[in-house]
Amino acid sequence: MIKFENVSKVYPNGYKGLNNVSLEIEQGEFVAIIGLSGAGKSTLIRTINRMHDISEGKLTVDGVSVNSLKGKSLRKFRRGIGMIFQSFNLVTRTTVIKNVLTSNIPDMPFWRVLLGAYPESNKVAALEALDKVGILDKAYTRVDQLSGGQQQRVALARTLAQNPKIILADEPVAALDPVTAKQVMNDFRRINREMNISVLINIHHVDLALEYADRVIGVKGGEIVYDGPSKEVTSEILDRIYGGQEPDTMEGIQ
Ligand SMILES: Nc1ncnc2c1ncn2[C@@H]1O[C@H](COP(=O)(O)OP(=O)(O)OP(=O)(O)O)[C@@H](O)[C@H]1O
Ligand SMILES: [Mg+2]
Repeated sequence: MIKFENVSKVYPNGYKGLNNVSLEIEQGEFVAIIGLSGAGKSTLIRTINRMHDISEGKLTVDGVSVNSLKGKSLRKFRRGIGMIFQSFNLVTRTTVIKNVLTSNIPDMPFWRVLLGAYPESNKVAALEALDKVGILDKAYTRVDQLSGGQQQRVALARTLAQNPKIILADEPVAALDPVTAKQVMNDFRRINREMNISVLINIHHVDLALEYADRVIGVKGGEIVYDGPSKEVTSEILDRIYGGQEPDTMEGIQ
C-alpha cells in the first residue's frame, strides 16, 4: 500500500537525501529502518506523510500520489498517518487526556477548540486509546509527572485516537532506558497485530529492530542496501548497512 518507485529527494542545498529508492510496504507490516546517522532514515519516513517533498520518482499510498495532494485532501491524508517522535511532542503542562484529545482538533469547529468542548465520543475514543497502551489510570495526570516511557505511550495513544492506518515512528525509543524501550516496542507490536496498523520505525538499536520487526530496511547514503525479513539479517548484511562500524545495541548502553 506504500509504494516508492525510483524515488529521489534532493534537499534545497543540493544534498541528495534519497537516491533511487524503490520499495513496497503492505498494510499491516511491521518494518524497522536501520542505518548510520545521516543515512536517510528520517528523510525516508518523512516523505510518506509529505513532511518532505520528493524530487523524482513516484510515491503512492493506497494508490494516491502523495505529491499531488493539496489543501483539504492533504490534511485528510495526513490524518490517516500517525507520527511519533523521539521527543514525544506533548504539551507537558496539561493532562494526559487533553493531550490525546488534541488529535481531534483538525476536525473540530474552532469554537469547540477555544472552549475545550470536546464531544463525548472523542472523550470515549481518547480513553479507549489510553487503555490500549495501558495508561488509562493516568488520564487525569499532568504529563510532566510521567516517566519518559509513559509519555511515549501518551504520544502513541494520541496517534491511535486519530485512527491511523499507518504509524511512522522516528526513533521512538532513543530517549528511553532498555527496559522501558522494550515495553514501548511491545506496545507498537500489539497495536500492529491487533489493529493491523502498518508500523514503520526508524531505530538505532539493531537488536530491538531484529527482535520486534518482521522486516528490516537498511539505508546507507540515501540508498536501500538491504530489504528483507529480520530473521535473515546476518552480520555480513549489518556490515553492508553500517559499513564496518559497530551498530548500536541495547546491551551497549546498559
Ligand atoms: N533540511 C535539510 N537540508 C539539507 N540536508 C539535509 C536536511 N535534512 C537532512 N539532510 C541531510 O540528509 C541526510 C539524511 O538525513 P536524515 O535526517 O534522513 O538521516 P537519518 O538517517 O535520519 O540520521 P539520524 O540517525 O542521525 O537521525 C544527512 O546527510 C543530512 O545531513
Ligand atoms: Mg533521523
